[in-house]
Amino acid sequence: MSMGMHTIDTRDGGANARVQMTLPSSLRGTSAPVRQFATAQAAGPVLDVRHVEKVYGSRNNVTRALADVSFSVMRGEFVGIMGASGSGKSTLLNCVSTIDAVTSGSVSINGVDVTGMKPAKLTRFRREQLGFIFQDSNLLDTLTARENIALPLTISRVPARETLVRVEAVASRLAITEVLDKYPYQMSGGQQQRVAAARALVTNPAVIMADEPTGALDSKNARLLLECLETMNRTYQATVLMVTHDSFAASYTNRVLFIRDGRIFTELRRGGTPRQEFFNSIMEVVAMMGGEGSDAL
Ligand SMILES: Nc1ncnc2c1ncn2[C@@H]1O[C@H](COP(=O)(O)OP(=O)(O)OP(=O)(O)O)[C@@H](O)[C@H]1O
Ligand SMILES: [Mg+2]
Repeated sequence: MSMGMHTIDTRDGGANARVQMTLPSSLRGTSAPVRQFATAQAAGPVLDVRHVEKVYGSRNNVTRALADVSFSVMRGEFVGIMGASGSGKSTLLNCVSTIDAVTSGSVSINGVDVTGMKPAKLTRFRREQLGFIFQDSNLLDTLTARENIALPLTISRVPARETLVRVEAVASRLAITEVLDKYPYQMSGGQQQRVAAARALVTNPAVIMADEPTGALDSKNARLLLECLETMNRTYQATVLMVTHDSFAASYTNRVLFIRDGRIFTELRRGGTPRQEFFNSIMEVVAMMGGEGSDAL
């Protein structure tokens, strides 16, 4: 926890205590190169962010987007990041996910410090260790859902037969089996987003990073996607980091980090409380944070 940060609810999150579940063999992929970095996996946090600072611009046009942000995420946690527009949520996710470079501080994933990594190695590390879900699904128009989900495995040269099995397994879990042979334009927005979620999950990444994944969805499809993320988290012990401005979406997580002016303002742990109750607690913090833009949280 970063200095100066006050925690409202210190009840221990149930997520950490949860029994480790083993992956189904279809997702284990022992021979696949995607497992290469996973051998470095230690008992420590899957994600460790230490004193991260991000400054954009130079000289007289400086924006301090992140200031001394520290937190860690254990394997199997589902963590939400909330904050007003411009508070630094996307910057934080981009720095943590190696898309953007930090100005100072360090980010370790599975015990590997990614802040000093060379671009070529970083590209590979990102592909093999991270899964991404954006507001727009970013599916390739010329590929079917099945091919889109398989793409990260294809790039990593996972054998075709194994790829097929893994894609089917994830698709069935996320209830998108019936759209597997459709092209993106033949699917609804909600289905596209669930396919994108499957694509993020299929490599069994160390962390899945999602930036406003429900942002472009109606409430029914938002709920379906959140249930998918919940399934990924519970069934596969997927570690998920999700940026959202929506308290309802955040209520699906185990823990919420609230960002204000580039700093962690506070965090809320769900513990064993039901989702509705957690939702109410989130709303309380949102109201308490107040100030400009709190209604946009
Ligand atoms: N490439 C950039 N160059 C300069 N300033 C930037 C850049 N990207 C972000 N910023 C600034 O950094 C701050 C944080 O931006 P960020 O995109 O992280 O906010 P956010 O919390 O994701 O907001 P939103 O909810 O609107 O997506 C803002 O003041 C923004 O203007
Ligand atoms: Mg953003």
